[in-house]
Amino acid sequence: MKPTVLALKSILPDEMELLGSHYNVIPLWEQSDRSAFLEARGAEISAILSTYDCEGVKADMMARLPHLKIIGQFGAGYDNIDLVAAKARNIAVTNTPDVLTDDTADLAMQLLLNVARRGIAGDRFVREGLWKKGGFPLTTSLSGKVAGIYGMGKIGQAIARRAAAHNMKIIYCSRSQKGDIPYGYYGKLAALAEASDFLILACSGGPETRHAVNREVLQALGPEGYLINIARGSVVKEDDLIAALEAGEIAGAGLDVFANEPDVPAELLKHESVVLSPHVGSATRETRSVMGRLVVENLNAYFGGRPLLTPVLT
Ligand code: 8YV
Repeated sequence: MKPTVLALKSILPDEMELLGSHYNVIPLWEQSDRSAFLEARGAEISAILSTYDCEGVKADMMARLPHLKIIGQFGAGYDNIDLVAAKARNIAVTNTPDVLTDDTADLAMQLLLNVARRGIAGDRFVREGLWKKGGFPLTTSLSGKVAGIYGMGKIGQAIARRAAAHNMKIIYCSRSQKGDIPYGYYGKLAALAEASDFLILACSGGPETRHAVNREVLQALGPEGYLINIARGSVVKEDDLIAALEAGEIAGAGLDVFANEPDVPAELLKHESVVLSPHVGSATRETRSVMGRLVVENLNAYFGGRPLLTPVLT
């Protein structure tokens, strides 16, 4: 008999089909009363397919699934999964790192270029016929500027390579200094911000980095400095960011992630110097398809008694 997978959100059709060829898949979003469904059928579930943009897998959900063995997260980050509860029950957790590194780093560069060279504003300027009335205001050069990267994992390193190709100087802050990384290391985020023209967040989410970027860090970044966030909304104290923008304490921001997605505070929408993006770091057809296959391959490895490909918890 095929194991039953509870899908919290759909992935791409081809990968849903692949999943369905190996498993009995129950789409949670099709259940009109989720709670009653979990109560009645929770014992059938052996695995969960989870994504970041869904409710996540908290202890109370796990408690209703007595035979849950594995959670396959469709994403590199897994801060919406209660790992403590999973570990206590010996539930395996996998994620999809590496395969989304390049696209996510590209998105960071897109935001960086757009805050500095004002590409989106330029497009609007031409469309609205304003060019005929005068030239577009001068923008900010990337070349020679300092990119301060918070989090030097695979994505941070991929951003560093791209920023270096734009002739930027790279510095970083992370949990510890990395021996094989040639860039200048800062132990404190505020010190990194102070030395940076562009502060780029590429760290993991979760309690360790929650609200790491506060008013003090933003003030250290300074009135000529830009904040780029492709990590998690939770890393930035959003009220402090809004206050810093209002007060002109930073020059602008490029944001792909927010504290309460998909709600974006109105105060962020009104700033010309803020470029917004709807959490799309990994959102290309190519990458989302590979991510989906990796989720299925991890489940197959688990149920086939083989080592997990990309384990978070074994
Ligand atoms: C999401 C992400 O998984 O990889 C991550 O950590 O945040 C994304 O890839 C994706 O948006 C689906 O929710």
